[in-house]
Amino acid sequence: MGALTFHGHACFEIAANGHRLVIDPFLNGNPAADIGPDELPPVTAVLLSHGHGDHLGDTVAIAKRDKATVIATFELATFLAHKGCDTHPMHIGGAHTFPFGRVKLVPAIHGGAVEGDETGQFTTFPCGLVVTIGGTRIYHVGDSALTMDMKLLEGMVDIMLVPIGDNFTMGVDDAVRAVSFVKPKTVIPMHYGTWDLIGTDPNEFATKVGSTAQVVILRPGESHQC
Ligand code: NI
Ligand code: MN
Repeated sequence: MGALTFHGHACFEIAANGHRLVIDPFLNGNPAADIGPDELPPVTAVLLSHGHGDHLGDTVAIAKRDKATVIATFELATFLAHKGCDTHPMHIGGAHTFPFGRVKLVPAIHGGAVEGDETGQFTTFPCGLVVTIGGTRIYHVGDSALTMDMKLLEGMVDIMLVPIGDNFTMGVDDAVRAVSFVKPKTVIPMHYGTWDLIGTDPNEFATKVGSTAQVVILRPGESHQC
């Protein structure tokens, strides 16, 4: 039994199996964050969906503070190794078993630029993350558009973390279709309400998902047992 805590936007902390991880730790400058990076408890790993500033966020500071391993696509991991972080590069389609559990990178359709990379040489594919920890399979969709690739995960996900804010990612209707593709037991909406531009109503999402999955709407700082 573990806890999945939402820290606003696309940032989730997972405490399970005796480990603590964070995904997409955008806390500084995140109007929706309930904590700053200094208030995040020590983590053993930072997992990244992609290099945009609202996901990369405070990765370097947190990874250095905790001597945590940053898990990301090869190019993004290389960029962070240049910044002095311990990294574990992976790529889409690959999985690896870490002390805390298993991580698989899966396709996502989105932009690949890396915040802070002046050269463009670290531009990479964004990804989704499937994290299996303590027997629970958690799929963080990243900033993906709706894609048929999601059907490959049908029946393989317990908890799906899905963007619904539209404009930069899926909006409500596409996110509802993504849920119908993946068929998770539980779905938690993310990447909405941080700014007016992505000010989607999560209750509309919950209504449209209906009974096909349990919808859990977390406010920043709230947790879901996993
Ligand atoms: Ni993005
Ligand atoms: Mn984003």
